Amino acid sequence: MRIDIITVLPELLKSPFQASILKRAIEANLVEVHFHNLRDYTSDKYKSVDDTQFGGGAGMVMMIEPIDKCISALKSERDYDEVIYMTPDGETLKQGIANQISLKENIIILCGHYKGVDQRVRDAYITREISIGDYVLSGGELAAAVLCDSVIRLIPGVLGNETSALTDSFQDNLLAPPIYTKPREYKGLKVPELLFSGNLPKIEKWREEQAYLRTKERRPDLLEE
Ligand code: ADE
Repeated sequence: MRIDIITVLPELLKSPFQASILKRAIEANLVEVHFHNLRDYTSDKYKSVDDTQFGGGAGMVMMIEPIDKCISALKSERDYDEVIYMTPDGETLKQGIANQISLKENIIILCGHYKGVDQRVRDAYITREISIGDYVLSGGELAAAVLCDSVIRLIPGVLGNETSALTDSFQDNLLAPPIYTKPREYKGLKVPELLFSGNLPKIEKWREEQAYLRTKERRPDLLEE
């Protein structure tokens, strides 16, 4: 998979890709991530990427021209399956969306800033708009990093144990069950006895029940989906 991220703040975006699972995925060539500074596609001496709104109103708007130049340059090199715009008014990121995107070959992610982008960018180039939740961030960069993390960990080979993404919370619309490790008892806090029984079918059944109970208590909406 190849991910091209268009941003006015590449330095804000890079560090999540330089550690842990994302770093290893890139080093193992399971994913390529490229950062494109929108200012490199501007034509004036100030490298302007935004301007005031037509019709008046507070806040700056990202201009169509640098975005068009950047997206067109990328598209002249290869075909893209999706051009995603990170925006608080997009569809809310869910595990199912991460699963779908993880199957794509090439995607572009555009990070919004200021008030957002000129509507013509959204109409003409964007194939999917994604929000990471009902709150407003200062820009789309952190949201893009969240999307990339959720997607990249699903690419086969990225996680050491292939089953572990399948047992994540939200796969099957269930939250994950409680988990424990050593020591067996800490300051009087004990691990459920059943987990030492060696009875794997019974342990599996207990985990399923716990996942269901936790979901019913914390996120009953997931059970209705
Ligand atoms: N840009 C600003 N806020 C955002 C959000 N919640 N999700 C995605 N992109 C954003």
